[in-house]
Amino acid sequence: MPATDMSVTGALHARRSVRAFTDQAVDPALLEGIFGAAQRAPSGGNLQPWQVTVLTGEPWQAVKDAVAARIAMGREGQEPEYDIYPRALTEPWTDRRFGVGEALYASLGIPREDKAGRLARFMDNYRGFNAPVMLFLHCSRIMGPPQWSDMGMWLQSVMLLLVEHGLASCPQECWAMYGATVRRTLGLDDGQILFSGLAIGYADTDAAVNRWPVPRAPLGEVIDWKGF
Ligand SMILES: Cc1cc2nc3c(=O)[nH]c(=O)nc-3n(C[C@H](O)[C@H](O)[C@H](O)COP(=O)(O)O)c2cc1C
Repeated sequence: MPATDMSVTGALHARRSVRAFTDQAVDPALLEGIFGAAQRAPSGGNLQPWQVTVLTGEPWQAVKDAVAARIAMGREGQEPEYDIYPRALTEPWTDRRFGVGEALYASLGIPREDKAGRLARFMDNYRGFNAPVMLFLHCSRIMGPPQWSDMGMWLQSVMLLLVEHGLASCPQECWAMYGATVRRTLGLDDGQILFSGLAIGYADTDAAVNRWPVPRAPLGEVIDWKGF
């Protein structure tokens, strides 16, 4: 359902990570307009380091199949591109990560003890939550943290523009666990590194997984005012 208030503030509040989509197809012309506007995203030195592969239909299915084959191999099948979280994550970040996971699974009625149920739901990630379109965001491996931050700005620009056009999305760094598999399937060489997927489609607004309030830290935890 298109959000009605399309101010930047309205779009920021309307956007959320959507984890259930309808099977309604997405018009490629709409996506082209969105990517055109997202080119206005800022980047240090105007490098515009983001490189993007957008898939639907068979090519998208090919990625899902390739990754499913690696998942079937167990841990051996994983080819992580980078550490998704710091290995030594501490408070307050551990709490925030745990909190959002608990809220997500609670929305699905899957208790903490049901490890198999939670894992099964997590694996929906590798079907892109049945989104009709998948976008993979990658860049040259020579890029460093500043350029990765540029990719984030591009990604958020796209996500807000999608909201403006009545579409929904879920950023998905989980694909980086099978980064080399994804890259091989996309025909990208080792000179590229996969940052994230972005599942794109129309939100299933009835799905409970799309309806829970996603918490945020209070401003006092993140902003330190000086001299005001
Ligand atoms: C770069 C990036 C990667 C993410 N990867 C995943 C993912 O692999 N799977 C998932 O379910 N959510 C993923 N998320 C969504 C976050 O969990 C979500 O943004 C956060 O909990 C805040 O919720 P909101 O996006 O609904 O506001 C990712 C978000 C970002 C920004």
